Amino acid sequence: MPAESTFADPTSQRYADKLILAPMVRVGMLPMRMLALKYGADIVYTPEIIDKRIINSERVVNERTGIIEYRNNGVADLQIHPSEKPYVVFQMGTSDPDLALQAAQKVAQDVCGVDVNCGCPKKFSIQGGMGAALLSQPEKLEAILRRLVEGCDVPVTCKIRLLEDDEQTIKLVKMIESTGVKALAVHCRTRDERPRDPAHWDRLRLVTDAIKSIPVIVNGDVFKHEDIAQAKEITGASSVMIARGAQENISIFDAAGPAPALLVAQEYITVAMAVDNRFQNSKYTLMQMYPATKSEEFRLLTRSRSYEDLK
Ligand code: FNR
Repeated sequence: MPAESTFADPTSQRYADKLILAPMVRVGMLPMRMLALKYGADIVYTPEIIDKRIINSERVVNERTGIIEYRNNGVADLQIHPSEKPYVVFQMGTSDPDLALQAAQKVAQDVCGVDVNCGCPKKFSIQGGMGAALLSQPEKLEAILRRLVEGCDVPVTCKIRLLEDDEQTIKLVKMIESTGVKALAVHCRTRDERPRDPAHWDRLRLVTDAIKSIPVIVNGDVFKHEDIAQAKEITGASSVMIARGAQENISIFDAAGPAPALLVAQEYITVAMAVDNRFQNSKYTLMQMYPATKSEEFRLLTRSRSYEDLK
């Protein structure tokens, strides 16, 4: 196993040697995050939510469940369980320092950190100057991070992708480190690479050699629990963030080995019902867990119309 990492800043230390559920739109809603924590994740990220959506939302504590909900037009875009607070990081999409700070201040009481998504390559994000667009606008990114670090009561982090050019990547991460963020997650692909392209763990060494004051979190292509140690060994990263491997079987965080897929799906349904997760979202998430095979379970899943059907 790679050696444990130590950082002078105690808040940065909270991100060191951690297993982290990656932010995933639609998939990383409350039930998935709760299961990730149950199976051994140390930190869980919310799906990306755009700054204005959180700013305009109404914060309500659901009387029946005790869950904190951020609602737009009566629908909860974000649910946070009070027990999640020490572990949950709110991820935002933003292109504006003032809006970023307003969004962060609104959720700060319910989360342990806020993160800026600087990796999303989707048209919607890029056109809005958000996500991976920030990688080519370092001045704007710097202004956002500095504003958040100065004005926000919880730790600030960001998640980037590699740039094409290694020297540019190093310049970027040194700038990010200088803003006072407490950790940096790196999805080891470039903006134009797709999920099927292999993650460049080898190229992350340049980053982990260049910045030493905050933990680097490696992200990309960790599909089995055994990959965690290897990813740290090859990259020199302190922590590991997992997306698709967790989507497929959230028990990937468990060192004891993966739980059977059907058991995990059943657990997911129980938690989703208990927290009032929207049925359509639960169905979608379950379908992502099951490879689209012709299995009987998958066929029944695609036909379900309610939690009763699912059970
Ligand atoms: C993502 N990813 C992502 N990234 C991010 O910063 N914010 C987000 O909201 C999302 N949403 C999202 C949804 C889904 C369904 C997937 C599969 C991915 C990207 C994700 O966090 C991660 O960077 C990549 O998937 C690479 O990690 P893996 O999948 O190789 O572990």
